[in-house]
Amino acid sequence: MVMLHFIACRGLLVSKMYETAKSIVHNLVSLIDEYGYVLNGARAYYSNRSQPPLLSSMVLEIYKRTHDLALVKQSLPALLKEHQFWNSGVHKVVIQDDKGSNYTLSRYFAMWNKPRPESSTIDKETASKLLNVSEKQHLYRELATAAESGWDFSTRWMRNHSDLTTLSTTSIVPVDLNAYILKMELDIAFLAKTVGENCIAEQFLKASEARSDAMNSVFWNDKMGQWLDYWLTHSNKCEEVHRWDARKQNQNTYASNFIPVWIELFNSDKVTVKKVKGSLQDSGLLCDAGIATSLINSGQQWDFPNGWAPVQHMIAEGLARSGLKDARSMAEDIAVKWLKTNFAAYKKTGTMHEKYDVESCGAVGGGGEYTPQTGFGWTNGVALAFLEEFGWPQNQSIDC
Ligand SMILES: *[C@@H]1O[C@H](CO)[C@@H](O)[C@H](O)[C@H]1NC(C)=O
Ligand SMILES: *[C@@H]1O[C@H](CO)[C@@H](O)[C@H](O)[C@H]1NC(C)=O
Ligand SMILES: *[C@@H]1O[C@H](CO)[C@@H](O)[C@H](O)[C@H]1NC(C)=O
Ligand SMILES: *[C@@H]1O[C@H](CO)[C@@H](O)[C@H](O)[C@H]1NC(C)=O
Ligand SMILES: *[C@@H]1O[C@H](CO)[C@@H](O)[C@H](O)[C@H]1NC(C)=O
Repeated sequence: MVMLHFIACRGLLVSKMYETAKSIVHNLVSLIDEYGYVLNGARAYYSNRSQPPLLSSMVLEIYKRTHDLALVKQSLPALLKEHQFWNSGVHKVVIQDDKGSNYTLSRYFAMWNKPRPESSTIDKETASKLLNVSEKQHLYRELATAAESGWDFSTRWMRNHSDLTTLSTTSIVPVDLNAYILKMELDIAFLAKTVGENCIAEQFLKASEARSDAMNSVFWNDKMGQWLDYWLTHSNKCEEVHRWDARKQNQNTYASNFIPVWIELFNSDKVTVKKVKGSLQDSGLLCDAGIATSLINSGQQWDFPNGWAPVQHMIAEGLARSGLKDARSMAEDIAVKWLKTNFAAYKKTGTMHEKYDVESCGAVGGGGEYTPQTGFGWTNGVALAFLEEFGWPQNQSIDC
């Protein structure tokens, strides 16, 4: 249930609830002041794992609408600290290509090797088929790390797609995490410049260039037109240089393979957008009621047939802002399908949902290990953001 803040915050901004949005930023900044990173949730037992880093996006969106320089000044030191957290110690990964160039990227890595306090019974049961303590501790870290990524759980992190004990989240360099950190670098550069911190701005522009190079070299697969997660051979030794090997790109189709299109640096490149759009069109992920998370029906909640609001939002917004007419109309089509399914399910159940079954309009999502939640901050936020971005097409019925 992470990543909620940023997307919910978008909804608040559409609703002109600026003070509430700023208060969320203040809360997250105070977590960084205290712990050095945004916790998985604001509870004592979430203190050993973070969440997808989207605070810079929130500060930027609020600034763009309110021009609140004080908020930028107050947030900047925390953003620098958060950037440091994701680019040091166990989170930092160096990969060397066959020409000897080194690329530095980031990975999720929970600082926790016990059952997750909020799912202790389930985690112990999952680990019960492992024989010794060190294997169990390893699995507990992988479970907490998958929770840190927001994609808990998914075949994306599993060596064997039908065996959760093969979860290997720390051995994977994730495309979406690095897209968020690239955005963080660009956001920090912009925000720093805004408050006259030109050296910081300069430094973060350089960092963003290095990361986009790294993403193009390590993740980009030109033949597929997607950015692919990268599997490491050894997960626990930090300060080690990994040799890049094309066979270690995860070739399975996940919606996360398209998340970089959200970032202006990629969506302003027409050649890339055309390729990515064609690839998404042919991927099998575009379904009747939105973008599926993957093509694998594993019973895990971050897999087929579930669709999640933040994923629809980032891909559609990226395509829409590319300036290409075709890409914008694909984005609008995704938004219309998503809003229709939100509305149909709302009429049927009286609530918005955390996830939807994208195979048919009005179907809510299932799977996973807890009762599906209703409410729901990020779904509400994305519905409002889509309506703000696209309006509602005159000739479209709101019904399925
Ligand atoms: C890459 O890193 C390795 C290990 O630290 C180092 O030996 C090598 O010189 C680096 N390559 C470049 C081009 O900096
Ligand atoms: C959680 O983090 C704290 C502070 O870094 C550390 O002392 C503690 O050992 C960690 N807990 C686990 C279970 O790894
Ligand atoms: C635990 O089991 C693994 C896999 O069978 C083995 O490699 C490892 O040495 C064992 N560790 C201990 C402490 O027995
Ligand atoms: C994957 O896990 C399932 C369930 O535990 C098992 O039956 C199957 O043999 C495993 N596949 C491989 C290739 O190890
Ligand atoms: C609505 O109008 C657009 C633009 O004229 C057109 O491309 C689209 O096919 C129409 N949709 C429907 C459902 O009629």
